[in-house]
Parts: sequence; structure tokens; C-alpha cells
Amino acid sequence: TELLSMEADLKGKKLLITAGPTIEAIDPVRYLTNHSTGKMGYAIAEAAHGRGAEVTLISGPTNLKPPAGMEFIRVNTAEEMYDRVLENFEENDIIIKSAAVADYRPEATHPQKMKKQDDDLYIKLVRNPDILMELGKRKGNKYLVGFAAETNDIIEYAKNKLKKKNLDLIVANDLTEEGAGFGKDTNVVYLIDSKEDTTKLDKMTKLEVAHKVLDKIVKSI
Ligand code: CTP
Ligand code: CA
Repeated sequence: TELLSMEADLKGKKLLITAGPTIEAIDPVRYLTNHSTGKMGYAIAEAAHGRGAEVTLISGPTNLKPPAGMEFIRVNTAEEMYDRVLENFEENDIIIKSAAVADYRPEATHPQKMKKQDDDLYIKLVRNPDILMELGKRKGNKYLVGFAAETNDIIEYAKNKLKKKNLDLIVANDLTEEGAGFGKDTNVVYLIDSKEDTTKLDKMTKLEVAHKVLDKIVKSI
């Protein structure tokens, strides 16, 4: 199809993409994470590579194979992702943050396995850095894309994130739609640009969504 044809319309562009969840250790055995599988971000990386971009993919732990033909950087925690993203930010033109970054981490990681007690257990969680917010502050003329996974008031929340993080585009996932969200091969998303123009895409594969996102970027840069 035309959609999946590989026109080299991103040739000469450098893209930084983050994907997957982050994991935040409680002790050597246990961690906090979320349901992200990385499929959406890997699809964007693959699509961008196919369209001629020079791609760097920074990924949390996933079961996916690192795609060929790009620089691949593996991370575990939000803080590691923050460091790698900031290191790679300057040299890239387009940054797409599809990773599901943990908002909190345990205040301390116990060096040894925690033993269970008779009492309830309270774990204090502290805030992780907001990577995308930091990028928004240094945006310059880079093109910044964020994601928003929501269960309710999708467009309102997504628009708030777009403005707060100084983004050019936000891809809002409707987690309540059938055939959308974590682990699925399809997605149902809204694309909202900096003018707040909002387009709802039909249910389509994540690779097709990836190409739609890239189409929108190509038109705006
Ligand atoms: N994000 C990030 N660093 C974080 C949290 C989120 O870079 N510590 C990025 C995500 O990669 C995504 C965007 O910010 O592109 C929105 O993430 P989301 O979790 O939907 O929004 P939050 O701002 O974390 O707000 P909340 O979770 O409260 O909805
Ligand atoms: Ca969050």
C-alpha cells in the first residue's frame, strides 16, 4: 500500500525515539513497572529507518528484538533513560518519546532481598525526573513528540501535556478503546498538534500509526 511504501522522506534527519517501560527496583528480586511492551515505539523506529532517517532507539526492558540498522541503547530505570536521552538530545532533529516512564521510584533500593514481616509494608516512592518536560525547556528548533496514555478525558489531558511540556505533537492513546494500548498490535490514537488541531485515526496497526505520525512530522518540518 501507499502507506507502507518506503519513500525516503526522512533522509538526512536524525531521530531519537524512546520506547518500552522503565523498571524501578525495590530490592534485587522485585521492581515496579507498567504494562508497556515497546511495540509502538519500535514500530516508529522501524518506520523512520525505512523512510531514510538516522535512528537512535533508547529502550526500557522489552521482549522485542532490537531493530536492525539503528543505534540501540538499553536502559532499565527512568534515571538511566533521562541520562541517555539528554546525552543524545543535541545531535537529533526529531525526538519521539513513546516510552512509558515510571513517574515514581522507591526512595531506596534494598541491597538484599527484603524478608516478609507480620506487619503491612509501606514503601515510600519519590518522583522521577520528567524527561520530556526537560526536553521541552531546551526545545530550540527541534521537533518534539510526546505520547499520552489515558483512560478518560483523553483530549483534555493530552492538550494539557502538549502545552505544559512545550511539544509540537502529542499522540494520545485511548486505553479504553478495543484494539488499543498495551501489548496490542493495533492502536486507536488522536494526533494533536501545537495549534491544538486534533485528528482521530481509525483503528490501525501500530506500524500504520507510526507512519501517520511520521507523515504529520514530515509535513510540519
Ligand atoms: N514522560 C517522560 N518522563 C516522565 C514521565 C513521562 O518523559 N517521568 C513522557 C512520556 O514518555 C510521554 C509523556 O511524557 O511521552 C506523557 O507521559 P504520561 O505518563 O502520559 O504523562 P505524565 O506527564 O507523566 O502525567 P500522568 O502520568 O500523571 O498522566
Ligand atoms: Ca506518567
